[in-house]
Amino acid sequence: MEFQAQAGAARRARTDCAVVGVHERGELGGDAVALDRALGGRLGRILKAGDFAGRLGETLLLPDLGAGPAARVLLVGLGSAKSWGRRPYRRALLAAAQAVLRTPARDAWVTLTAHAVPDVDAYYRARYAAEAFGQASYKVPALKSARKPAPPRLASVRVSVAGRGDLVAVRRGLEHGAAIAVGSATTRDLANLPANVCTPSYLAKFAQGLARSHRRIRTRVLGETEMKRLGMGSLLSVTAGTEEPARLIVIEYRGGKAGEAPVALVGKGVTFDSGGISLKDPPGMDEMKFDMTGAASVIGAVCSLAVLGAPVNVVAIVAACENMPSGRATKPGDIVRSMSGQTIEVLNTDAEGRLILCDALTYSRRFKPRLVIDVATLTGACVVALGAHNSAVMSNDDGLADGLVAAGRRSADTCWRMPLAEEYSEQLKSNFADFANVGGRDGGAVTAACFLWKFVDGLKWAHLDIAGTAYQTGAAKGATGRPVPLLVDFLLSA
Ligand code: BES
Ligand code: MN
Ligand code: ZN
Repeated sequence: MEFQAQAGAARRARTDCAVVGVHERGELGGDAVALDRALGGRLGRILKAGDFAGRLGETLLLPDLGAGPAARVLLVGLGSAKSWGRRPYRRALLAAAQAVLRTPARDAWVTLTAHAVPDVDAYYRARYAAEAFGQASYKVPALKSARKPAPPRLASVRVSVAGRGDLVAVRRGLEHGAAIAVGSATTRDLANLPANVCTPSYLAKFAQGLARSHRRIRTRVLGETEMKRLGMGSLLSVTAGTEEPARLIVIEYRGGKAGEAPVALVGKGVTFDSGGISLKDPPGMDEMKFDMTGAASVIGAVCSLAVLGAPVNVVAIVAACENMPSGRATKPGDIVRSMSGQTIEVLNTDAEGRLILCDALTYSRRFKPRLVIDVATLTGACVVALGAHNSAVMSNDDGLADGLVAAGRRSADTCWRMPLAEEYSEQLKSNFADFANVGGRDGGAVTAACFLWKFVDGLKWAHLDIAGTAYQTGAAKGATGRPVPLLVDFLLSA
């Protein structure tokens, strides 16, 4: 899908579908006034007659408008003017994008982007618009035997610019939004695939494919022999029970200055988490195919950066394996030695994410990163604490934590800081090893972060627990593409 900024000359433009936002009891504004005039006052009459109430997310399609500037008009409700802001703006955009995509329109003209939105500038208004059309046109890679649904006809979207002075910002917003949509879709595709397709080797092949299609990307894949040589006893203990070979995938994106220290992104890539010998309960176990979404999101973020040619150096390190029970599987009470040299008593084989991440974090040191962010569906406790709205962020650096929280707010892909403190680390004490891999039920998301903290001495580090935000359950089951917008926003300003 192609995006363009349109400043002025709105009356003369022809479109298959014009999108016009209206508040409850509101009037037409901006480009919609000129459009209404060209349509002989039809939109105004519809509003006056009360045929469209303007409730948030409500849409009304007016087709068959003849030879005017628009073959169709889609009215979209903006809700009450009093509660207008970032959230209703984004909801209206998504509803509009979904409705436009249900029509046969090949192009659309979105006037919504010219509305003022409190705390949202022209750049973000345009960026959200591109993201919304990307999100609405996303299709799950379904392995259904019925005929494939036709691809959307919508090929181009123009958005209104409030004033000439906004033109540059809007163009940039559209470009960034489109790139974020590409990255999110990549993340969602990988995460939505079943675990019998999306194996560690599949992820590795995918990453190698990226290197072939983007000249700034280089990929290296390490197998278990190399992991053994590197002393990654902790990562290897997780993969011990499965037949599927583990992979450590290193994707370097070089968009910044040569020699500039990279940002390291470390992703949890457990392609299926059965719990291992500490086997999970059956209900919802299928959702543990999403346990590689941290990996998928760092890959998606790199895709976005590559599409943009963003001026940063990033190295994504993906620890990919399965967590399965078998006669060779790691047992509760087993003690393993991590690449850092620290020993770990594996009290619960279901706390496997931290066991693979700790070795990937240690490995990240060889890139001398200026900062490290790990991304993981790490704990059920995080879902209990924050639900589906915020990812958790824990960090040993206040500036980094603030930067991520701010990027989350700007990109509407929010995270909330949770503590990292010695008191919690004490819960990880072990009688037999340097520490244990679990610290009891209380504060489970924090003790998981405290575990990782033991491996990032001297590094500027943040941990994102995305267990609640990475995917939806229930009827709308599927990956959300989060936290790609957050990561890309952060990296574009890092
Ligand atoms: N992958 C899970 C965390 C998870 C749970 C993600 C629910 C998404 C939804 C992780 O590997 C895990 O099993 N964590 C355990 C840790 C516990 C054994 C300390 C958990 O949260 O129950
Ligand atoms: Mn687990
Ligand atoms: Zn897991």
